[in-house]
Amino acid sequence: MVKKRACVFISGKGTNLNTLIKRSRDNSFPIKVELIISNKKNAKGLMYAKKFAIPFLIINTSKKNYDLKALNEITKRNISVICLAGYMKILPKNFIRSFKKPIINIHPSLLPKFKGINTYKRIIENKEKMTGCTVHLVNENLDSGKIILKKSFKIEPYDNEKTLKIKTQKVEYKSYPEALIKLLGKY
Ligand code: GRF
Repeated sequence: MVKKRACVFISGKGTNLNTLIKRSRDNSFPIKVELIISNKKNAKGLMYAKKFAIPFLIINTSKKNYDLKALNEITKRNISVICLAGYMKILPKNFIRSFKKPIINIHPSLLPKFKGINTYKRIIENKEKMTGCTVHLVNENLDSGKIILKKSFKIEPYDNEKTLKIKTQKVEYKSYPEALIKLLGKY
């Protein structure tokens, strides 16, 4: 079986990216990361592009047609799945429409609860009992595409934004690979 060629979009640390790269060394994992796109030239996650010799592209989202540049690179490299992993920009509708294959995102809440940014803060303020993460398909509305997988855990009375983030990300590292297997199959 041929693995799907994946492009991962990042803006920050790239710890989910690192997990996906590591998992894709496994022959039975359905994707191989062939391109990394960052909207921040100093994103820490770009170190994984260098470490694992994966091509990368920095995009400037304040420039007109920046998405066409990204799409060109994606087409050139035969990418058939896009994974957003901590990409902090909204993809233009045209980009989503033009890329006719799956675009997947991971969000640090149990969607449809707490769409958007400042998730941990709002979860704590709202005194939620449970939280977790959601892996979902991307459509033209923010954090609203079809849900592939959710994983939850209990929030303890002593949890704060910092501990929630640590716990949620731990769950994310299991969830993203599992969701990709669920969506794309295992070889
Ligand atoms: C993740 O927790 C994800 O849920 C959110 O952004 C964070 C990215 O972290 N969308 P990292 O860059 O993968 O370390």
